Amino acid sequence: MSQEILTRRITAPEILGRKGGEPIVALTAYHANTARIVDNHADILLVGDSLGMVLYAMDSTLGVPLDLMIAHGRAVVRGSKRGLVVVDMPFGSYEESPAVAFRNAARITAETGCGAVKLEGGVRMADTIRFLTERGIPVMAHVGLTPQSINTLGGFKTQGRDTALWPLIKADAQAVASAGAFAVVLEGIVEPLAAEISRESSIPTIGIGGSRECDGQILVLEDMLGYNPKPPRFVKVYGAVGNAIDAAVKSYADDVRSRTFPGDENVYPLK
Ligand code: KIV
Repeated sequence: MSQEILTRRITAPEILGRKGGEPIVALTAYHANTARIVDNHADILLVGDSLGMVLYAMDSTLGVPLDLMIAHGRAVVRGSKRGLVVVDMPFGSYEESPAVAFRNAARITAETGCGAVKLEGGVRMADTIRFLTERGIPVMAHVGLTPQSINTLGGFKTQGRDTALWPLIKADAQAVASAGAFAVVLEGIVEPLAAEISRESSIPTIGIGGSRECDGQILVLEDMLGYNPKPPRFVKVYGAVGNAIDAAVKSYADDVRSRTFPGDENVYPLK
């Protein structure tokens, strides 16, 4: 097998083929340096529009511009070799019509080199998902707590607490699968419902505040690394990177103030 074949990227159809198989590992990545590390271990690198909140201190994802997603998407593609890079379509770039969605998804694909896009919404976005997939753009769907709809959902609220609404959420998951999505993110959905959707869905479900029964899991990298002092319940914190950065910056500041840095080894002698 040639090196090129060995190092080629995971594709959207390969992720679809993993329904019910080995769990799919997905994480967000926003720039080349983290993409390089995430790519060693994850199947999917999501350039999530959560970057608006995580990197740019926005209150929600609603103000994230398309050009910003393209810039970060390009960096993540450059920084990775193996994982499927999925770029989020930001609010306002796809809801108007399938044609508008295609124009913007085509820009994202052409200008970043990503392998798929993600968009939020179930039944109401099914025609758009079909339009994109039939025209060569793989789509990852996203249902349940969809952060771009916080103003209509009334905030970042767990979905499915009222069992009377389960059929609507199930219909969303069913609609995106029928429309041709290769996977669906289930975000902030009560566990028994997320499990039921995972058992019933024909495409892989990727949980974030979902269920162990999902076909894969996704987290925001910075949350699981321990940057976020108040992570949501669905986050398991695997590192203390915020503390590590704080300690390193403090040591640097102490060294500069005490003139311990730079040392002899950090300056250029004449010879
Ligand atoms: O924007 C994002 O990071 C996401 C994940 C949380 C699924 O959509």
